[in-house]
Amino acid sequence: MNLTLKIWRQKNAADKGKLVDYQISDVSPDMSFLEMLDVLNEQLINKGESPVAFDHDCREGICGMCSLYINGEAHGPDRGITTCQLHMRKFKDGDTIYIEPFRANAFPVIRDLVVDRSAFDRIQHAGGFISVNTSGNTIDANAIPINKHDADKAFEAALEAGADDVTEEDGYIEIVGAAEIFKDLHDSLANAGLKIEDAGLRMIPKQEVELDPDQTLAVLRIITALEESDDVQNVYTNLKYTDEDLEKLEED
Ligand code: FES
Repeated sequence: MNLTLKIWRQKNAADKGKLVDYQISDVSPDMSFLEMLDVLNEQLINKGESPVAFDHDCREGICGMCSLYINGEAHGPDRGITTCQLHMRKFKDGDTIYIEPFRANAFPVIRDLVVDRSAFDRIQHAGGFISVNTSGNTIDANAIPINKHDADKAFEAALEAGADDVTEEDGYIEIVGAAEIFKDLHDSLANAGLKIEDAGLRMIPKQEVELDPDQTLAVLRIITALEESDDVQNVYTNLKYTDEDLEKLEED
């Protein structure tokens, strides 16, 4: 499918913002709407342009983070589903799709399609509703593992580009930073002559949730089952678990 996307771009809360046209081709009807935006963002990053910021967390229709106004409708043309569960088969080749943030004074736009949701927090703190925290807050980030041989150079390049975190494990360096520094980080590593083994957008939890040992094991079993499914590409969790929990899982 070839599509024209008209996406709301807004640098920050003070910026006026405007709809910007993007052409995207070879979109599979089986992609989710957010996967289609991921593809667009990869193309923008490769061109040196800033990716479109949008909210998401579980991508499983659970957390409600994904929002979006699509062609003037909350969550787009499908009914009873969240944006992350909307698939591109709901659109036709050649369609023009308008993608805008949640429009309400209580939820001002922070950047592009991301709105300030702190009004929800205030309702929650006031006891306005009871919720079970199943997913927490996550951010888009990029993670770039690098061969250990070049660890020192990688640390230096990562710091130069403004990375948030650098860890080393099993002969690889993993560098994590905000999506906005993706290109700087990529360039900085390339300039240092380092080979990037893998790079991409990941969901990294800001807050981890601790459950009792039995519940932790139950959730880990679900995660394992999801990971084993051919239909699942990635599974993200903010569950806090230990090596001991993983050992118990293996004994299952
Ligand atoms: S419900 Fe869509 S990202 Fe969680």
